[in-house]
Amino acid sequence: MKVLVTGGAGYIGSHTVVALREAGYEPIIVDDFRNSEKKVLEGIESLVGQVTCYELDCSRPVLEEVFRREKNIHAAIHFAAFKAVAESQEKPLDYYENNILSTITLLRCLLKYQVPYIVFSSSATVYGEPDTLPVTEESPRKPARSVYGRTKQVCEDIILDTLKSGAALRAILLRYFNPIGAHPSAKIGELPRGIPNNLVPFVTQTAAGWQKELVIFGRDYNTPDGTPIRDYIHVMDLAEAHVAALRYLERGGDKNIMNLGTGKGNSVLEIVKTFEEVCGVKLNYRFGERRPGDVEKIWADATLAEKELGFKAKRTLAEALLDAWKWQKTLTLNQAT
Ligand code: UD1
Repeated sequence: MKVLVTGGAGYIGSHTVVALREAGYEPIIVDDFRNSEKKVLEGIESLVGQVTCYELDCSRPVLEEVFRREKNIHAAIHFAAFKAVAESQEKPLDYYENNILSTITLLRCLLKYQVPYIVFSSSATVYGEPDTLPVTEESPRKPARSVYGRTKQVCEDIILDTLKSGAALRAILLRYFNPIGAHPSAKIGELPRGIPNNLVPFVTQTAAGWQKELVIFGRDYNTPDGTPIRDYIHVMDLAEAHVAALRYLERGGDKNIMNLGTGKGNSVLEIVKTFEEVCGVKLNYRFGERRPGDVEKIWADATLAEKELGFKAKRTLAEALLDAWKWQKTLTLNQAT
């Protein structure tokens, strides 16, 4: 069964392509490689054999070509999006255009070619700073703090409104908490361009000497050690959750929104300490100012995904950090910049 994976050469996309293939699906990647690298395909293929890939921008009408050529696409998983928070504030039009148009273009193709299922990459960013923890799928969405966050909220609404219109489509919106780690083989992993925005790539690059020091953004939060808390989930767990979500849609599951987290929160300092311990490397770090827009603490109530999808994150934080480090060690500086 063919599953279209937009953004399939990206970080979560590439791991999901591997998980899909291992589950017996035939993933078809659509990626324009604006924020991903061609060599990711080699990594994927070294793990699961040849995979079809279309190099195109799925916010453009040319996406329809894929549906025309492939025929019988069974489902789509829509990862393709811009995702850098700070950049989204500088280039709002790029973010709205790319993230929203790609969702609309894909939905139009799904309806026209009678593809019955879509799995959408959403984010815990839609919850903003939650009033109660852990956050459930019923927790209110807060006005997003960034253009990036707003694009996720708008895309969620576009999909939900399409369902409400009576379209012959089933959908599930997956709200990711913080994906980290890499495939344990170290054949695929995260490839941030330039200076990483996210914590774990910054940690591994600091450990590798690519970055001089890690700055921990703030130590005066209302948390046990003063640093912010997040729910870090191994990217392979996340990838496998997409397979579970697809199967859920296939068997008629009717919940449209699902958190994907571990249900446990860890502070930035805990990440640093655990990394040092499991990887046996000392990190050069210091405390700095808070990063504007950061939330203090958030972690998932992961029970709905367990009940409905039968999905539970099974890898530990230590495993995730070790896999991230193994992946980092395979990289050379010019590969990532
Ligand atoms: C960030 C985005 C979020 C997005 C997610 C996607 C912001 C404000 N939020 O989430 O909208 O959905 O990425 O991956 O950018 N940290 C440091 N030093 C660093 C980097 C990070 O201390 O050099 C801290 C941050 O303050 C935060 C934690 O590490 O407390 C995790 O940061 P990050 O990996 O960027 O994820 P989020 O902030 O949760």
